Amino acid sequence: MSDFRLDGRTALVTGASQGIGEAIARRFAAQGARLVLAARSEDKLETLAEELRSQGSDAVAHRLDLADPEGVKSRLDELPDGFSDIEVLVNNAGITADNLFVRMDLEQWERVLKTNLTGAYAVTRALARGMMRRRWGRIINVSSVVGLMGNAGQANYAAAKAGLIGFSKALARELASRNVTVNAIAPGFVRTAMTEELPEQSKKDLEASIPLRRLGEVDDIAAGAVFLASEEAAYITGHVLNISGGLYI
Ligand SMILES: NC(=O)c1ccc[n+]([C@@H]2O[C@H](COP(=O)([O-])OP(=O)(O)OC[C@H]3O[C@@H](n4cnc5c(N)ncnc54)[C@H](OP(=O)(O)O)[C@@H]3O)[C@@H](O)[C@H]2O)c1
Repeated sequence: MSDFRLDGRTALVTGASQGIGEAIARRFAAQGARLVLAARSEDKLETLAEELRSQGSDAVAHRLDLADPEGVKSRLDELPDGFSDIEVLVNNAGITADNLFVRMDLEQWERVLKTNLTGAYAVTRALARGMMRRRWGRIINVSSVVGLMGNAGQANYAAAKAGLIGFSKALARELASRNVTVNAIAPGFVRTAMTEELPEQSKKDLEASIPLRRLGEVDDIAAGAVFLASEEAAYITGHVLNISGGLYI
């Protein structure tokens, strides 16, 4: 047993510039992984990479825009030496564009599907072959309980997050023979910029509806990601890890 260590593993986390992705990157680094931090905000990524390096970890910032899935492959072909053999991929980047369905236009629908689902497809497509060749890999897709239970005002987001679960299960079956596992994490409501906009009263109501009586913290999700990336999770694939304080049971 290695206590969920990731020593020597090279990991790429999308949406690592803040929130859940940043927390996953920090935890991975603490467990010994080498990190590629990917998102659009280069300055934030660079600040985090510098901080991780100052703590003795190997980390690089790599600008990546998932709203342009066609450009993802060439961007990932430009990963710096020593960081190009990605063994652990966390498809975490995501956006919302909420609206009641009758008011949701095609642009809002497509924007969310493109970044949250097609973006994950594009990154995985670029990196899965290397994992298969090396006969070792971990793909972790950050979905949401909204993809399991739906949420009014989030038809686009729910469709994308449910899509990520189907994607994970299909890919788990395809890649298992090459020792690459594919799992999803379904967070409940987590305290980040994404949920900050909720009115105080909505947060209180939400907390009352969660059996563990609090919103999730980014580290609650990062802990699950570390586990799924670790050697200890070698026999888990096609699983959806629900981290929601019991909101979804
Ligand atoms: N917070 C929650 O309650 C909650 C619950 C369930 C699931 N989730 C999921 O967890 C993931 C992280 O959420 P969060 O709460 O940490 O959100 P967040 O604070 O808004 O962070 C989103 C991350 O995604 C990146 N991103 C957005 N658009 C991108 C693009 N076009 N290309 C590359 N990166 C992009 C952002 O970086 P840049 O802006 O720098 O590109 C940022 O790092 C998302 O997939 C979200 O759906 C969150």
